[in-house]
Amino acid sequence: MIKLGVNVDHIATLRQARRGKFPDPVYGAVLCELAGCDSIVCHLREDRRHIQERDVFLLKDVIKTKLNLEMALSDEIIEIALKAKPHQVTFVPERREELTTEGGLNVKENFKKVSEAVKLFKNHNIAVSLFIDPDFEQIEASKETGTDFIELHTGRYADAEGEEERNKELEKIVKAVEYGISKGLRVNAGHGLDYKNVVPICKIKGIEELNIGYSIIGRAIFVGIYQAVKEMIEIIRKSEKEN
Ligand code: PXP
Repeated sequence: MIKLGVNVDHIATLRQARRGKFPDPVYGAVLCELAGCDSIVCHLREDRRHIQERDVFLLKDVIKTKLNLEMALSDEIIEIALKAKPHQVTFVPERREELTTEGGLNVKENFKKVSEAVKLFKNHNIAVSLFIDPDFEQIEASKETGTDFIELHTGRYADAEGEEERNKELEKIVKAVEYGISKGLRVNAGHGLDYKNVVPICKIKGIEELNIGYSIIGRAIFVGIYQAVKEMIEIIRKSEKEN
């Protein structure tokens, strides 16, 4: 069964629009759990544009599933993460000017830095995932770092225009999942997935978890967060069965 991790960053984005206390991503995370998600994902960015340090510590304390903290390889964030002790960290690239995470981490080019960070967190009994493009060289480099998981970036697939391009991007993900598993890695996927484009992804054998944020929180505005998460889980269950 494919697990669902819900990214609650966008609840915090709304809160930060007024710099107040509402809506609270911690409250939202609890509702996501009640609706049946398997983990909560949040991204503590260097510019603190959505999730704040307080959220990370409270989420770790309050949630009952698993906290997956996305983070850049920044000394400041690493220090906070080691204090907050999430169940898992996912290393992502981060450039201040980007709206969200664009493109995967270049593990090949930053091999030493990534490997040291993987080792550090594993020594603290925190599982590690690397958010990478569906690219064989990045998968090989990831394996060499000693990471537990890779998370395949589905953004290009999600943004593809037209069926031909979408199928091409989907095929890259299918092959990358196969290759990652053959290397002994555990494989997750995410970014840009919604209630429609998630269907073919669920049919790929071997993906353990999908991390989804924007589409779920966006839908929550209209139907409520509990219902939005339930609907996504229903689609995932139905699609993986059709396989
Ligand atoms: N996985 C990773 C590593 C991400 O950086 C993001 C975006 O924060 C997601 C999953 C979720 O992407 P989306 O919000 O587009 O569903």
